[in-house]
Amino acid sequence: MKAVGVQRFGGPEALEVVEIDEPHPGPGEIRIRVHAATVNPTDTLFRNGVTSAEALRDRPPPYVPGMDVAGVVDEVGEGARQSVGDDVMAMTLPRSRLGGGYAEQVIVPTESATAMPIGATYAEASTLPMNGLTAQLSLDLLALEPGRTLLVTGAAGAYGGYTVQLAKAHGLRVVADSSPEDEPLVRRLGADVIVARGDGVALRVRQALPDGVDAVADGAVIGEPVLAAIRDGGAVAAVRAFGADAERGIVIHHVMVRDYAREWDKLDELRRLAGTGAVTLRVAHTYPPERAADAHRALEAGGTRGRLVIVFRE
Ligand SMILES: NC(=O)c1ccc[n+]([C@@H]2O[C@H](COP(=O)([O-])OP(=O)(O)OC[C@H]3O[C@@H](n4cnc5c(N)ncnc54)[C@H](OP(=O)(O)O)[C@@H]3O)[C@@H](O)[C@H]2O)c1
Repeated sequence: MKAVGVQRFGGPEALEVVEIDEPHPGPGEIRIRVHAATVNPTDTLFRNGVTSAEALRDRPPPYVPGMDVAGVVDEVGEGARQSVGDDVMAMTLPRSRLGGGYAEQVIVPTESATAMPIGATYAEASTLPMNGLTAQLSLDLLALEPGRTLLVTGAAGAYGGYTVQLAKAHGLRVVADSSPEDEPLVRRLGADVIVARGDGVALRVRQALPDGVDAVADGAVIGEPVLAAIRDGGAVAAVRAFGADAERGIVIHHVMVRDYAREWDKLDELRRLAGTGAVTLRVAHTYPPERAADAHRALEAGGTRGRLVIVFRE
């Protein structure tokens, strides 16, 4: 079967269509005939070897990136909760033995997949599992009571957008950073207070909220400079290495979405929220597998709003 992967780690041009063996699910696993696979920032680090070379050094190429998919179940292992023919969305772990999502068929643990949100296309549904679960994990780690204040940086991005919406669904007050162009979007996502993004963002947060925020979900990976926005004893959800020690009793939570890869209840709640419109699914552009390199180039250029999606089948 066809997949998109790299024979050698490198730039976007290293991505090519490859032929790999058709996989079959074991007990507790399902096989998905993939219609749509998302392109996430982490895929670029997998592609160039930064996060994958060491982990995969004992396995032969090609190496297939991709952390979420949507498609149709076409084979099930014993004890799977889905049936052949079900439309599903799922999270994939490209460094695991099951491989990444850029493939015509992927195997996932049954708990990593659930039904698609009502009314969603395959491309739309594929955007939800990985970033939705990361947003939910961030909120769970921060454990803020309703009414508390959360700053979301990179609010216009995929993780940031879901974090804003899930925070609002949980009753938090949300402060978000934004460029002037993104402001209508960030407001629509539900931010209560918007400050200009970029250098000095913590100062602008303090101007708007002199006591500071209770916590930050740092989707823009600002790191140390964002600490000044947080009250003493607050917290940060860091989605990449944070690059600073805690200060003033602030707790830094390191968010690892793979910890939620089998949290079926969390994934299914995301499905429900997307079905009600509390969480919106945003697709920026779709690409055929042969143009996966262009999708990576576009993502790395920055400025994408909504997810880029590789479409294996309409
Ligand atoms: N740890 C985990 O398990 C995990 C899971 C999921 C995601 N992540 C990480 O989370 C981060 C966000 O992912 P994503 O998919 O949401 O990316 P994304 O869709 O590209 O969103 C990032 C957003 O941040 C903005 N931004 C970049 N630099 C900024 C700055 N200095 N100040 C304010 N905003 C800035 C970007 O704007 P421009 O496009 O204009 O640059 C974009 O709107 C990535 O680093 C990703 O790898 C980690």
